[in-house]
Amino acid sequence: MPPSRPPARDTAEVERFRPGGVVHALASGLLEAALALVLFGCSQLAGDANPGLAASLVVAAVLWAALSLYSLAVGALRARVWGATLDGDGVVVRGLAGARRWRYEELSAVEIGGGEELSAVEIGGGRTRLVARDGRTRRVRGVRGPGQGRRFRARVLDRATRAARRGSAPAARKPAPREEGQAMPATPGRAGPPPDRGGTARGRGFATRAVHGAGAPVPAESPLAVPIWQTSAFAFDDADRYAHALRQPREGFVYTRYENPTTAALEATVANLEAAAQGMATASGMGAIATVLLSLAAAGDHLVVQRDLYGGTFSLVSSVAARLGIAATFVDVTDPGAVGAALQPGTRGVYVETIANPTMAVADLPALAKVAGAAGVPLVVDNTVASPYLCRPIEHGAAVVVHSATKYLGGHSDVVGGLALFADAGLYHRAWRTMIDLGVSPDPFAAWLVLRGVRTLALRMERHTENAGELAKLLAAHPKVERVYWPGLPGHPSHAVAARLLDGYGGFLSFDLAGGRHAGRRFIEATSVARLAPSLGGPETLVSHPASTTHRQLDAAALAEAGIGEGMVRVSAGLEDAEDLLADFTDALEVA
Ligand SMILES: Cc1ncc(COP(=O)(O)O)c(C=O)c1O
Repeated sequence: MPPSRPPARDTAEVERFRPGGVVHALASGLLEAALALVLFGCSQLAGDANPGLAASLVVAAVLWAALSLYSLAVGALRARVWGATLDGDGVVVRGLAGARRWRYEELSAVEIGGGEELSAVEIGGGRTRLVARDGRTRRVRGVRGPGQGRRFRARVLDRATRAARRGSAPAARKPAPREEGQAMPATPGRAGPPPDRGGTARGRGFATRAVHGAGAPVPAESPLAVPIWQTSAFAFDDADRYAHALRQPREGFVYTRYENPTTAALEATVANLEAAAQGMATASGMGAIATVLLSLAAAGDHLVVQRDLYGGTFSLVSSVAARLGIAATFVDVTDPGAVGAALQPGTRGVYVETIANPTMAVADLPALAKVAGAAGVPLVVDNTVASPYLCRPIEHGAAVVVHSATKYLGGHSDVVGGLALFADAGLYHRAWRTMIDLGVSPDPFAAWLVLRGVRTLALRMERHTENAGELAKLLAAHPKVERVYWPGLPGHPSHAVAARLLDGYGGFLSFDLAGGRHAGRRFIEATSVARLAPSLGGPETLVSHPASTTHRQLDAAALAEAGIGEGMVRVSAGLEDAEDLLADFTDALEVA
């Protein structure tokens, strides 16, 4: 059950704010008026005896009178809101028009100093705090008028200002650890419809009350897990804020295809893990790849792309992108010289995978980033198979990282999703606009499932890697196995690059059976712990035989060109007990 709003607090405990400068402005106005009168009187006394002095005194009197009118007007304007009280339920604003209570749900924004907008007002621990979108928390000390419709302006003293006023330096503040739920505002600005707008007031019809509901509680406490914001759209009281949020995904929520709080939490969490400036979640890995490539290249442009590539990406580049007039050159990216040679004046991106499937070749990202960077071309890296636990390509010079979150990030074989992470906000903004137009944003529940998976990524990657290592050792020593592809084996061509770039060798491997196509097929049908299924990165060990399943239409020559042996078996090592997997593989090898 969601926690309910804290009860309205005892009036003795509420925060009160006093007017700022009303008395001062009114007193100045009256003094200035008096001075104007005195000067005018003197001018009359000087009269005909000294006409020059009399004229000067009249001019001075008029100026002081104007100043007095200005001060009185300022005082009157400030007095429109002369005080406010915050309690557990809302803000009571007092002014010339009397007292008016605004419930927190009714305030579309609380503005401070420079017009900075706040995401939430929190009451708790005997203090009133305003929580800004960037997570900074400030305590309110005063209120200035005029009240503006549904807004109210607050003068805020943060720690530094308070300390400066006291004449001391601000105490050094240890930054609070940034947890997953804190990557975005834990309590977005408003929750639930305001009673006067939504129709929950007594007297409204049954259907109106049923449609608008009573509004969700806004807990003062932060939820431990990020909630699922399962809503297609967000309501506004303010058309300007609505228009602004349509253009700035990080500054408001409008429509879930654009941005959603649950999705934003996932984006911020994975961006942080990948050392990226910005993240963008999508409905699938292909959604992320298509969005990034189509935001980088247009008709007449060119891409340099890894040759042994995930099949879906190959199809996107060679068919969809080609139909849109985007040309591509496929190269062996283990040779950075070949990548440099393939660059053209119209090249808009170099696209590689950290660990390629099924050869498990590891791309030398720093070398590739250097070649691409020298030509001013962004390096885009599919980091699905490594995951950010093993490798963070942006740290090695990549401009964009893409993921099939369906795999290790989600990690439970129960969600399809994707992510793109950007080293720079400009590339992110272009991709975000493209994603909106392509309509590949994730459902909030899917984003939540990925976010839940990410919480255990570190533990799972350790176990996937351990199990893959055990299987690789078993297979490498077996007489029916011709070759094992796992970068952790010293004999693997990418072993040295992997040792340099990866924090572990990963849970994905493949091997060639000496018995060819039939042996491969017999093997995948004989395992009982390992399941015969596509995909990778889930808790279950999965096996597949590309030559008889995903690539069955290719003949031996075409398979060889794609780097796939007829007897090749692909394995995604799961999280089971290693002994059970070793026994299962030993038994299946008997019949292969
Ligand atoms: C390396 C790699 N990238 C991208 C994708 C596409 O991801 P999705 O199926 O989530 O669209 C896959 C899918 O298997 C993949 O293995």
